[in-house]
Amino acid sequence: MWESSRVARLSLVASMCVGVCAEFNIELDIPPPLPAEHSIYVDKDQVVDLGNGKKLTVDDIVIGMEYLFERRVLYDKQRWRGMIMEQNPLDAFAIQHFLYKAKPDVLIEFGTNTGGAAVFYAEMMTAYNPASHVITIDPFDRVSRSHTGYVPEVLASSSPLWGTAVRPIVGDPTWRNVSALVRKLLRDFNASSVFIIEDGRHRRHSVLSNLLMYHDLVKPCGWILVQDTRLDRTLHRAGEGPYAAVKEFLTLAPYYRIRRDFEYYLFTNNPMGWLQKVPPNHDCSNER
Ligand SMILES: *[C@@H]1O[C@H](CO)[C@@H](O)[C@H](O)[C@H]1NC(C)=O
Ligand SMILES: *[C@@H]1O[C@H](CO)[C@@H](O)[C@H](O)[C@H]1NC(C)=O
Repeated sequence: MWESSRVARLSLVASMCVGVCAEFNIELDIPPPLPAEHSIYVDKDQVVDLGNGKKLTVDDIVIGMEYLFERRVLYDKQRWRGMIMEQNPLDAFAIQHFLYKAKPDVLIEFGTNTGGAAVFYAEMMTAYNPASHVITIDPFDRVSRSHTGYVPEVLASSSPLWGTAVRPIVGDPTWRNVSALVRKLLRDFNASSVFIIEDGRHRRHSVLSNLLMYHDLVKPCGWILVQDTRLDRTLHRAGEGPYAAVKEFLTLAPYYRIRRDFEYYLFTNNPMGWLQKVPPNHDCSNER
């Protein structure tokens, strides 16, 4: 992911502690999230009796964890085989679950950052289909330094899959030449089922532009995952985040529906972010 306001917030921190940041317990001073009426979590109103006189809703618990996740910069701590991944591990596991169920042969990722997530996806996908590919696109080459300033111990480009199963493209997804290159790669790969992960700038306009430009590549019953829809309640607010883009996309692109099958952990960075293309006369209920 790339994220300009986080870059601003973290640039000082990053310049103080290149290479050893993960050792420090940074806490960002961030405002509290928008209240529960903005909640889009699954089962948000369910009450959990903690047995100590306290009763919390699912929303209280999940948004509380979300607040800690942002405040403690937990997205920057996780590693996959030493690579920076920037993926909530519960979401990473849910995505892995989805990949094995749906078995897409190409994943298009907007937002490479250091590339660890692209390698993770490609390792999962080549395990069920050695001919599968991840096309990952980012306006900047951040493989050796993340958008928040971290230097990975293990570079994604050192993976044997980098450049083979993983095809990085440096450029804006909405550039014509980038779109043309993606479409050429899909022909070269003889792609039959494309899954899209939008994890780029996380701004309404950018997310919507990418979705509108590439959603035609998704086949009936295929899927798009828009990441970090949580940000509309925390960082971006006022309809300027990925969830606002999802709502607008659903009014503009025919046949897409939100499906919540992969939100079963409740704590997710992507509530209402899983979209399936269900054209008329298609029963996609079992395709997951
Ligand atoms: C696309 O075009 C731009 C502008 O001409 C160029 O800078 C960039 O390298 C091109 N990218 C790709 C992937 O072809
Ligand atoms: C492309 O894939 C289809 C099935 O998805 C297969 O029938 C066809 O033979 C493949 N073509 C090539 C050139 O691999």
